[in-house]
Amino acid sequence: PDPSTRERAQRRVLDVAHRGASAYAPENTLAAIDVAADLGATAVEIDVQRSKDGHLVVIHDTTLSRTTDVEKRFPGRAPYNVRDFTLSEIKRLDAGSWFGSRYAGAEVPTLEEALDLLAYYRRNLLLEIKAPVLYPGIEDDIARTLRDNPYWLIPTGRKSANRLVIQSFDRDSAKRSKRLLNQVPHGILGRVDEGEIDRYRSWADMINPNHTTIDAAYVREVHAAGMHVVPYTLNERDEMRRAIRMGVDGIISDRPDVLADVIGGE
Ligand code: G3P
Ligand code: CA
Repeated sequence: PDPSTRERAQRRVLDVAHRGASAYAPENTLAAIDVAADLGATAVEIDVQRSKDGHLVVIHDTTLSRTTDVEKRFPGRAPYNVRDFTLSEIKRLDAGSWFGSRYAGAEVPTLEEALDLLAYYRRNLLLEIKAPVLYPGIEDDIARTLRDNPYWLIPTGRKSANRLVIQSFDRDSAKRSKRLLNQVPHGILGRVDEGEIDRYRSWADMINPNHTTIDAAYVREVHAAGMHVVPYTLNERDEMRRAIRMGVDGIISDRPDVLADVIGGE
């Protein structure tokens, strides 16, 4: 493509499916990744935690209750923390029925399973280190898993469109992970106040706030500090259009098909 076409393509807003296409399939399952890929997402966001026996698993809540049948299968194991169950116990859970009977039997995936499926679809990954205070050393576990899957460590494109981005609400955890995986772009989740933005530019590549907390001036400030902005979680067309007008680099949405349509129309 000629340079202007390439520039336009590179400026394109990244379409990130939140927990997979979580409006249409059970969040953080392989089925949700299938649907995201099918609907045109360019990247998928997932949440990573750790089982009792040290396996990395893909799930949002720190307990298994909302998105699995754990209370039925393991009565008496309250409070059903992810970290109190082994991988083999977690794998026996149904992580799909709560969303709809056609997803009955969907499993909680391991990080490796999600990596393999995303590589198969050639989709990018936005990996959230979820609640790392509960999982000391999880940054090392993630780095080890990625080194065993070197496909994910090959830098591609600009920061937000890279094959892999790692992010966390926990700034210390994101910074620890960046030290281990310097070639991988890292993001801070949640708004960083204007006066503090410069403090993070030495290691953070991205600030990914709730979209309701930002405006065009804020996006300009983060860009001026050399970082990208990929807000969450935008599900309505007017919200998406507003964010695109602000100049964001990507958008995280439960409805990647709607987002693809809005991005395509800009
Ligand atoms: O990636 C941003 C978004 O996922 C953060 O919020 O609660 O959905 O993990 P949450
Ligand atoms: Ca998340």
